[in-house]
Amino acid sequence: MITRFVPISRAWTHRLADVDSTACGCDSTKRVAVLFGTRPELIKLAPVIKALHRSKRIEVLIIHSGQHRELVDPLLALFSIRPHYDLAVMQPGQSLQALHARVMLGVGQVLAREQPDLLLVQGDTTTALAGAMAGFHSRVPVGHIEAGLRSGSLKHPFPEEMNRRLITQLATWHFAATPRNRRSLLAEGVRPERIFVTGNPVVDSLQSILRQHHVSAQLDQLLDRTRGFKRIVWTSHRRESHGKPLRSNLRVLRRFVAEHGDVAAVVPLHPNPAVRQVAEAELTDQPRIILTPALSYPDFLGLMAHAWLIVSDSGGVQEE
Ligand code: UD1
Ligand code: UDP
Repeated sequence: MITRFVPISRAWTHRLADVDSTACGCDSTKRVAVLFGTRPELIKLAPVIKALHRSKRIEVLIIHSGQHRELVDPLLALFSIRPHYDLAVMQPGQSLQALHARVMLGVGQVLAREQPDLLLVQGDTTTALAGAMAGFHSRVPVGHIEAGLRSGSLKHPFPEEMNRRLITQLATWHFAATPRNRRSLLAEGVRPERIFVTGNPVVDSLQSILRQHHVSAQLDQLLDRTRGFKRIVWTSHRRESHGKPLRSNLRVLRRFVAEHGDVAAVVPLHPNPAVRQVAEAELTDQPRIILTPALSYPDFLGLMAHAWLIVSDSGGVQEE
């Protein structure tokens, strides 16, 4: 189903003012902690952080779990965001349990020290779930952005679909992107006065970057190398695809490009070794397939704008 997303920047300050007055009915300054750890969380939270900063009644505390490093550092610079805390939890090849435990412990310590009035988490990552759980344990109310998104299968996306459902249980406030997401929350018993339909902040990020940024030398080079061809942009990183499904999808891409002389593919690689190493092994010796490290956000948006076909298992890419 195609859903219409609306820009939310302005809506946000009002929504939080609603939460504030519903929660205490007073005019005092509130401390709002915002937690992220991965690329999509920061892309979607950047406009929310900006909106929060505009409110005189809100003091913003930014916590970066450090679940991602190379993918997040350039975004911090792009959006001029300086975290107050960086928990630096990323370790190569770590298990979901180890990651979860470290985020939960680290966020719990920050919450105990800072005592914010609200903790905002975004989406369905381990950072979001472990952070929400730390908030619940610390009795700090949790606000969930992108609440009510459901695929209906616990296997796809894994473990994110379970993370979403658990965060719904842990959260006090639910910021849903669409009326459909709101209906999912209502069907699960969330009280209507706790749900706010805000739109999806990825729209604000996308629009603000497209307004400001010009083609970089790197993007220019990629476009040049594929000029005159039908351009495919291909990304994949989902855990449920790792191993055989990923290998098989890459072979389909390789065969398709080989059989169609008028197409060329650009494949920006997620740094996860389970993706990068397999893609590098499967996509060699085809001059019309270009492997590149993950692109900067402005370059990736620029590349998508010049695509003939986008193939991706990424939630954010589909929304964009
Ligand atoms: C995570 C999220 C997923 C989200 C995705 C966005 C969970 C369970 N999954 O998946 O919901 O869609 O991020 O990209 O939270 N790595 C680096 N540098 C980086 C980032 C990752 O080297 O900047 C490597 C590390 O070896 C790391 C591995 O990638 O251990 C996997 O990262 P992880 O955050 O566990 O999972 P993702 O597959 O990225
Ligand atoms: N993205 C990017 N560079 C790339 C590939 C993707 O900046 O090389 C952006 C993309 O525009 C989208 C986000 O990363 O906003 C999606 O992140 P990811 O696919 O890692 O996570 P998901 O959305 O699947 O949770």
